[in-house]
Amino acid sequence: MKTQVAIIGGGPSGLLLSQLLYTKGIDSIVLERKTKDYVLGRIRAGVLERGFVQLMREAGVSERMDAESFIHDGTQVSFGDTMFRIDFAKLAGHPVTVYGQTEVTRDLYHAREQANGKIEFNVEDVVIHDAKTSAPYLTYSVEGEARRIACDFVAGCDGFHGVSRQTIPKDLRREYEKVYPFGWLGVLSETPPVNHELIYSGSERGFALCSMRNEKLSRYYIQCPLDDNPEDWSDAAFWAELKRRIPKEAADKLVTGPCIEKSIAPLRSFVTEPMRWGNLFLCGDAAHIVPPTGAKGLNTAASDIHYLYNGLREFYEHGSKAGIDAYSEKALARVWKAERFSWWFSSLMHRFPDQTEFDLKMQIAEIEFLRTSETAQRAMAENYVGLPY
Ligand code: APR
Ligand code: PHB
Repeated sequence: MKTQVAIIGGGPSGLLLSQLLYTKGIDSIVLERKTKDYVLGRIRAGVLERGFVQLMREAGVSERMDAESFIHDGTQVSFGDTMFRIDFAKLAGHPVTVYGQTEVTRDLYHAREQANGKIEFNVEDVVIHDAKTSAPYLTYSVEGEARRIACDFVAGCDGFHGVSRQTIPKDLRREYEKVYPFGWLGVLSETPPVNHELIYSGSERGFALCSMRNEKLSRYYIQCPLDDNPEDWSDAAFWAELKRRIPKEAADKLVTGPCIEKSIAPLRSFVTEPMRWGNLFLCGDAAHIVPPTGAKGLNTAASDIHYLYNGLREFYEHGSKAGIDAYSEKALARVWKAERFSWWFSSLMHRFPDQTEFDLKMQIAEIEFLRTSETAQRAMAENYVGLPY
């Protein structure tokens, strides 16, 4: 087979790129190693920056998002019983959109199917060949049958455990990583959200987050030891611990119920440089991971897609390589800012096993500065709603 852009990975990055290219008549094929249902079964975050929302509109995939999402003009931050609001609209001039990543991925699959987009599922042994030439190609197999795709460019949208990053010679990669000594125990419950905006809570007992998917579906997280097992946490134990960590006024109105999903996610910051090697371009989790505290994972994947999509357009529409030649530098510049914000917010709101009394005092003083300083709140708001592309 032959295509213009071969995309490895049928997650939100790969699908968004394929759909955007389609709107400009640029052909692509998506290779996904799992099934569609498996990809849609993964529970992920749900806060979208304005840039992401704009890309979904440009891709023609915003109808359900616009109809079913929540627009949040602010968020709550608390420490103990002290709770204050970060006013995104006033301080950064933009809201955020609350719409689950699963729904985003579902809408993108629907759009690709509507357009007869080429997606191969259950692919195995994907190998990228000749990425450093003007005629790269992929080999892979489906149900044991060998396949080959010739292309102009390869987009590695295959996540952290994918083949794309590994294709870049190790001695040419610089990798940066920070592993946090705790995880997030997350639950999904068919209960009304405790608050109409998210609540990010720091407490003596650790972090907690109150989020939502819709009026009847809530998402809650508490910081937990990495070696905890979700099965060890009964629903009652989860709700009791959550109540201890959020402000009393929220705990008093919290509606609890059966947890329909319960899982633990590690927290990690990771970046690989460069994000381009010849005609292979890394996007999203294939190149960088953020702790979920700042809700930057999907949004930073989207800014990668913005830069690559516009670079490829420039190439196919005007024959210019300027955009794709600048891709790695442009994408990484924004990635590092998202990494910094996610690291800052994670460091502020979590309890570290080895932290000293002095460290705790620093966290409390920083939260107090955030509570009382409009300048500090503006800095947080600008980062949270999404820095310009
Ligand atoms: N061949 C084909 N597909 C692969 C391969 C491979 N060798 N390796 C991985 N994949 C697929 C995975 O099955 C997955 O569906 O690539 C996809 C990568 O999707 P994601 O991990 O969701 O990564 P991305 O699309 O970049 O989305 C980033 O996902 O993890 C969240 O927080 C993250 O929100 C961010 C978003
Ligand atoms: C979520 O809704 O799952 C969510 C929201 C905000 C975050 C992380 C996760 O920072």
